[in-house]
Amino acid sequence: MVKICGIGAGYVGGPTMAVIALKCPSIEVAVVDISHSRISAWNSNKLPIYEPGLEQVVNQCRGKNLLFSTNVEKHVHEADIIFVSVNTPTKIRGLGAGKAADLTYWESAARMIADVSRCNKVVVEKSTVPVRTAEAIEKILCHNTNSKGIKYQILSNPEFLSEGTAIQDLLNPDRVLIGGNQCPEGLEAIQKLKAIYAHWVPEDRIITTNLWSAELSKLADNAFLAQRISSINAMSALCEATGAEVSQVSHALSKNTKIGPKFLNASVGFGGSCFQKDILNLVYICESNGLTEVANYWKQVIKVNDYQKSRFVKRVVTSMFNTVSGKKIAILGFAFKKDTSDTRKTPAIDVCKGLLGDNACLTIYDPCVTEEQIQKDLSMDGVEWDQQPMSSTMVKQVSVVGDAYEATKEAHGICILTEWDEFKNIDYQRVYDNMHKPAFVFDGRNILNVDKLREIGFIVYSIGRPLEQWLKNMPQQA
Ligand code: UDX
Ligand code: ADP
Repeated sequence: MVKICGIGAGYVGGPTMAVIALKCPSIEVAVVDISHSRISAWNSNKLPIYEPGLEQVVNQCRGKNLLFSTNVEKHVHEADIIFVSVNTPTKIRGLGAGKAADLTYWESAARMIADVSRCNKVVVEKSTVPVRTAEAIEKILCHNTNSKGIKYQILSNPEFLSEGTAIQDLLNPDRVLIGGNQCPEGLEAIQKLKAIYAHWVPEDRIITTNLWSAELSKLADNAFLAQRISSINAMSALCEATGAEVSQVSHALSKNTKIGPKFLNASVGFGGSCFQKDILNLVYICESNGLTEVANYWKQVIKVNDYQKSRFVKRVVTSMFNTVSGKKIAILGFAFKKDTSDTRKTPAIDVCKGLLGDNACLTIYDPCVTEEQIQKDLSMDGVEWDQQPMSSTMVKQVSVVGDAYEATKEAHGICILTEWDEFKNIDYQRVYDNMHKPAFVFDGRNILNVDKLREIGFIVYSIGRPLEQWLKNMPQQA
């Protein structure tokens, strides 16, 4: 029986390994993590991450050919193939701070693999890493004193799943990318991994490349997607200034087969663990290679994203008579997109901090994000989702509540920051009746029916749509 070990039981490692176990009953899959709390959650009825369909997959395989464990060394030792899905956050200090990927977790995983391995292994990079990481990993593995006679093949097999649709994306991927050394041993390792995916993925969707192409493709993929969002968000600002409507512009663009319909929804900004990190990574690689103009081009994608978030905050403040001090603002949605509990780099963090900076009182409701997480996100910078205990200093002007009606009760304004479906079906007349007047709605995801809300009496701002007279008469934004 082939044995696989997945190191890192996070948003990428957990679902990916679970789907491999589901689709390959003849393969034994062990998912390991240094975090005891995370592993015990994977072994409980309340999984550590929310992802539609994940629970069913885990329930089908756990205890059969899928196990979760903190005994990292044992399972790495026994495995033929090791998938590494550890976190690679942006470095916060030292050389390349703010841009380069922090490979501390990767390096310690590689050192541990070298320490415990007694036979040849295929090591698969799943987490996004800077181009040529495989080279560094190979050096760590091969120069370990325990590694005498042991051969490692490093493969890059970047994950393209989106959170919220991870299981569907894994079950039915539009492509699987496998990069490896182009020597006979490398090609053999590529075939070994290809054989696993071939259990359920049609062969023509499995692309094989050299190592560096696979690593760079992942960064390029995310940079291209993020760039589309920043492009349409930049257009949204121009729409507001001119009276064009961004959804009509998107629709027109989407019919151009050279452009297509996806990733053209204007929003309060993109979030998630990948886009910003990967672009920063790309910028760093460009700068390291002396490609200043190319680096600046990609930096601009992030700048426009930051601009979109601050533009939203300014719009809220200027619309509400230039101050939100002491006013209650209901925040509907905190996750970086719908159908996930993940808040990493969610635009809600910057928007909430911006409003708090103007002394607003926030009442936050998200169907999936816990109060503890929201407090953690708003009280400190750059913290991974389960790495730190709860901050002792709660943000006083923030309360987290259990539903949208409670959040909006006696509020002066509402900000929609995540496109959860349930926000479309709220009884907005009831909401309006319980709010201070004039009652404002700022739709950061363009999911609401603006005309209906205006009929009820709300003053509505919706990204990239013509401004109503009220908002036009407010002082111009910088
Ligand atoms: C992304 C990539 O899509 C995936 O291929 C990669 O492997 C990991 O990163 P993910 O971070 O899960 O996936 O989310 P995604 O669906 O790409 O959305 C990212 C952000 O962009 C979200 O905040 C989302 O709300 C925003 N977005 C997306 C828009 O603002 N407009 C759009 O049209 C699409
Ligand atoms: P991603 O979104 O890329 O999956 P996460 O932060 O959700 O990122 O998951 C990464 C996981 O990797 C975390 O649960 C972390 O505890 C785990 N991890 C990091 N370093 C190691 C290591 N050396 N051995 C085992 N697990 C590790």
